[in-house]
Amino acid sequence: MSIYSRIAGTGSYLPEKVLSNHDLEKMVETSDQWIQERTGIKKRHIAEAGQTTCDLAEQAAARALKAAGKTAQEIDLIVVATTTPDKIFPSTACLLQQRLGNHGCAAFDIQAVCTGFVYAMGVADKFIKTGAARTALVVGAETLSRILDWNDRGTCILFGDGAGAVVLEAADKPGILSTHLHADGAYEELLHVPGGISRGFDMEADGADPHFMQMKGNEVFKMAVNTLGRIVDETLAANGMKKSDIDWLVPHQANIRIIKATARKLSMDMDNVVVTIGEHGNTSAASVPLALDTAVKDGRIKRGETLLLEAFGGGFTWGSVLLNY
Ligand code: ACO
Repeated sequence: MSIYSRIAGTGSYLPEKVLSNHDLEKMVETSDQWIQERTGIKKRHIAEAGQTTCDLAEQAAARALKAAGKTAQEIDLIVVATTTPDKIFPSTACLLQQRLGNHGCAAFDIQAVCTGFVYAMGVADKFIKTGAARTALVVGAETLSRILDWNDRGTCILFGDGAGAVVLEAADKPGILSTHLHADGAYEELLHVPGGISRGFDMEADGADPHFMQMKGNEVFKMAVNTLGRIVDETLAANGMKKSDIDWLVPHQANIRIIKATARKLSMDMDNVVVTIGEHGNTSAASVPLALDTAVKDGRIKRGETLLLEAFGGGFTWGSVLLNY
């Protein structure tokens, strides 16, 4: 008999400190009106000094385990998607494992920027399908605020910190119907943090601070809209499904205009699209599980419904997960 993976529980966490658009007006030349019209963002949450990605992941993971009715000891795989790990090593997944008091299960990080959670779901799904794991904790967690140039209005207004998690468990019917993962490294320069451990942090060579994110927003925007349109078609075709078979679109929360363009591609009413960007901005790998948990907890998403999760991010990377919740 085939094994599938299904979502047993979801959880999420946003740090307490809030940075509003009005707060940003005092930091860079921008306005609440511009930010809301161009992005849909009203505010974002920012981790306190000393509050790490693992701290946020731990809260989200604990909530997902509670919702799933599972103990940390039952987990036999931990995958954390993050671009902002606590340490160079050990991985944030290992740090999280220690916090949860689990000893011995496989634990590793995935780095696919904003598509990280979708990649992590794709990997965990394959572990479960092959019988290599029966209960997986999949987390997207970020402290993106640490890699932002707070003088660059083109990026600092967009991003925030947060974490989301799901517990996947083995089941005899889906669950996850398919996952689709892609990348094209040719677009490195459009969205990146230039510095790194191996390359170093050379202020002169990079012309801007290599610790911080650099983005050609307009070009990324166009690529994101086109690419997400294609991934929708690919996902439906792979499953022999029609647009109308999708009950909920749970998109990466990068920009309300990108989300609306994908919804149009699906001929989907915005009432069936989970939009949380206004409340927390773009939290990169945390954004899809944050949106998912919000709509599960407020009762919009119900068992048996068909969900399309999708994301696009630095790399470029992009992907989707189609599932029966
Ligand atoms: N406030 C006011 N004006 C601004 C701001 C701001 N915060 N930022 C830029 N502007 C100005 C620009 O300087 C420009 O002015 P000009 O016409 O005088 O030159 C004007 O607004 C228009 O700038 P654009 O960059 O063309 O604005 P656009 O409509 O493209 O919106 C944005 C910018 C919001 C960044 C958009 O391009 C976007 O969302 N891009 C995609 C981001 C994304 O999805 N990233 C992928 C995932 S992220 C990841 O993987 C880490």
